[in-house]
Amino acid sequence: MPYAQITGWGKCLPPAVLSNEDLAQFMDTSDEWITSRTGIRERRICHCNFSDMAVVAARRALAAANLEADQIDLILLGSLTMDSLCPNTASLVQNAIGAHNAASIDLNSACTGFLYGLHIGTSLIRSGAHRKILVIGGEFISHYMNWARRDVAVLFGDACGAVVLEADEAPGGLIASRIGCEMDTSSAIQITNLGSAYSRLNEDFLYLGWNFEGQEVFKRAIKGMSFACEDVLQRAGLSITDIDLMVPHQANQRILDALAKRLGMPQERIMVNVQRYGNTSAGTIPVALTEALEEGRIKPGDHVLMASFGAGLTWGAALVRWGERVTPLAFSDAELPPCNSTALEILAPHIARYKARMEE
Ligand code: UT7
Repeated sequence: MPYAQITGWGKCLPPAVLSNEDLAQFMDTSDEWITSRTGIRERRICHCNFSDMAVVAARRALAAANLEADQIDLILLGSLTMDSLCPNTASLVQNAIGAHNAASIDLNSACTGFLYGLHIGTSLIRSGAHRKILVIGGEFISHYMNWARRDVAVLFGDACGAVVLEADEAPGGLIASRIGCEMDTSSAIQITNLGSAYSRLNEDFLYLGWNFEGQEVFKRAIKGMSFACEDVLQRAGLSITDIDLMVPHQANQRILDALAKRLGMPQERIMVNVQRYGNTSAGTIPVALTEALEEGRIKPGDHVLMASFGAGLTWGAALVRWGERVTPLAFSDAELPPCNSTALEILAPHIARYKARMEE
């Protein structure tokens, strides 16, 4: 039975930076509140389509693995912020990169989208159904943000990451994983007014609502991620002291601190970049994983533990035994279209629309 090694990795961060001070210009918040409650200092705002970010991340991951796009036989794309209802975004990526031998699947499990994809992609390689898979995770969440909600808008940012999975006889890759979904919490994070559960006969779909029970999600995130981590460690016959690096979902520094304490994981062995990007949902893990490799924090043969949670509430953990290679085989020159606006300029029409709505 082949293993599924991670042989390529890449990220795409849009260049426009939205700082806490920028947010305080149009909503009742402050750098002090956001930093002390979340650890977030800035986030990125996308100026193009979500698929543009996914294409750049995918091209960079393919280059790192030194593969041509037509060698890929499946694209699994985790996101809730698709370019359109139809066609799916994975097929747009397939077309843009020229992966003409790849089936293309979108996967919406919110922030856990990448881990769900890694779990499914590894299983498909282990079963022999596929040999080379692109697993992409990312979000263009600023597009769907309610800019009148300070308790939500300050938390999120846009980004995308990708990895290449390849069938390999050498043991390694994802050695244990567990994904799940909590019953009765589907309304804890909910984007309303868009979708077949909502009327198309009024203009409410222009003003997305967010149900967001921050404290409830906070508690359940720690519980769900620590349960999933302990479960995969047990499945792999390892303990937390065997983990060289943890790459968790990046939603809130306080969640990461509590998770570390509960698992008994030293802070210095946890990859954290939430201060720079905020919560990029399905993008957080592949982006943090790529940065951990860029910073030399993953060595050949390391055990890397990932954990995530998100709307659903979905949760999961994945334990990877890294392969022999921790550097890219090649680099791609793929870039996003140029951006000539600041983050506040990109957001201005959306902010104005929500403001007007509040004043109605
Ligand atoms: O990937 C999954 C996504 N979701 C999450 O990870 C969310 C998990 N939850 C959290 O990270 C935290 O619960 C939050 C960061 C969302 C909120 O932190 P908190 O410490 O639980 O604050 P809180 O909700 O208890 O709010 C405290 C106060 C409230 O004011 P009052 O009622 O005490 O007067 C809020 O209205 O802070 C107020 N507040 C703000 N103040 C300034 C809420 N948002 C803001 C803001 N700026 N942006």
